[in-house]
Amino acid sequence: MKKNCVLVSGGAGYIGSHTAVELITAGFDVVIADNLSNSDMSGVEGVRRITGVDVPFVNVDCCDREAFAEVFRRYDFDSVIHFAAYKAVGESVADPMKYYRNNLTSFMNVIDLMREYGRSNIVFSSSATVYGEADELPVTEQTPRKPATSAYGNTKQMCEDILRDSVAAYSSLKGIALRYFNPVGAHPSALIGELPRGVPQNLVPYITQTAAGIRECLSIFGDDYPTEDGSCLRDYIDIVDLAKAHVAAISRMVEQKNKERYEVFNVGTGRAVSVFELVRTFERVNDLKLNYKVAPRRAGDVVAVWADTTLANEELGWQAERPLDETMRSAWAWEKYVRKL
Ligand code: UD1
Repeated sequence: MKKNCVLVSGGAGYIGSHTAVELITAGFDVVIADNLSNSDMSGVEGVRRITGVDVPFVNVDCCDREAFAEVFRRYDFDSVIHFAAYKAVGESVADPMKYYRNNLTSFMNVIDLMREYGRSNIVFSSSATVYGEADELPVTEQTPRKPATSAYGNTKQMCEDILRDSVAAYSSLKGIALRYFNPVGAHPSALIGELPRGVPQNLVPYITQTAAGIRECLSIFGDDYPTEDGSCLRDYIDIVDLAKAHVAAISRMVEQKNKERYEVFNVGTGRAVSVFELVRTFERVNDLKLNYKVAPRRAGDVVAVWADTTLANEELGWQAERPLDETMRSAWAWEKYVRKL
């Protein structure tokens, strides 16, 4: 198998496309597999334009085992980064089976096919959501996971467990779960970025769409939390920095530098930022005023979560680098590019 070739499932999407770019920049070959259920070819085209590489793309649903197996027969990758999953928390509460069926089936297919076709390394996209309302902050990888409050969050926990158990049982496999905090921003070229369908559920796309005039007013969900300014605290990680963490994780396994065959890393900045602070930063660096109001708390939100990143810093040799100012500038540059403003 080609050690320097990586299959990126969900590679047309937000995190997948940025990761494909960073992998190629670092010298890896990349194959993108995506069924475009929550993305479109613009992500793939963006990767090709930024890198100048005609990255192979396969339109395939990872839940369709036979069709997915064809990708393993056709391409010679030794590693897989599995992004392909549904990710809307509210929808997962309303329709849990949609989430269990899709997110678990596709991941189990990845593991089965990797075994069947003799592939070695897997990175799974996990989430800080596994920590829930943590008892200690910042959270380390040892901080106990809390019972999930949504089917989406549950699929993240279950897939982590599936990976842990599979790696323990099947000696051909090695795995890393990356727990993302809040990915934001866009590529400096503004050729790829986050493109939510419908009304954005996440803060930064809502901010940029409000600035673009697509949404009338941003609602800040709660200003009466027990924090300094009353709004929630999160760890906003720049998307390019996050993408680079995947390159570090793959390289670690390819170069056999992993200490355990299954490892978990937090991927964040280590810095807590409030909703008000993020809004103010966006306004300042882009020199505009955002229309916003304070609204009631959103069900299911935790007050605060941010990462202790020591393990990723020391073991992956990775750390977040892009300043928040630059990230928030890139988010707006991307929105303007997409809307042709
Ligand atoms: C959310 C999910 C998390 C998932 C992640 C994926 C919930 C409860 N959590 O994280 O499980 O892994 O997305 O991207 O849905 N906010 C506003 N106004 C808005 C939108 C958000 O004030 O219009 C606030 C929220 O209350 C929160 C912060 O902004 O305090 C960040 O929200 P969001 O971007 O949705 O991310 P999380 O909720 O942290």
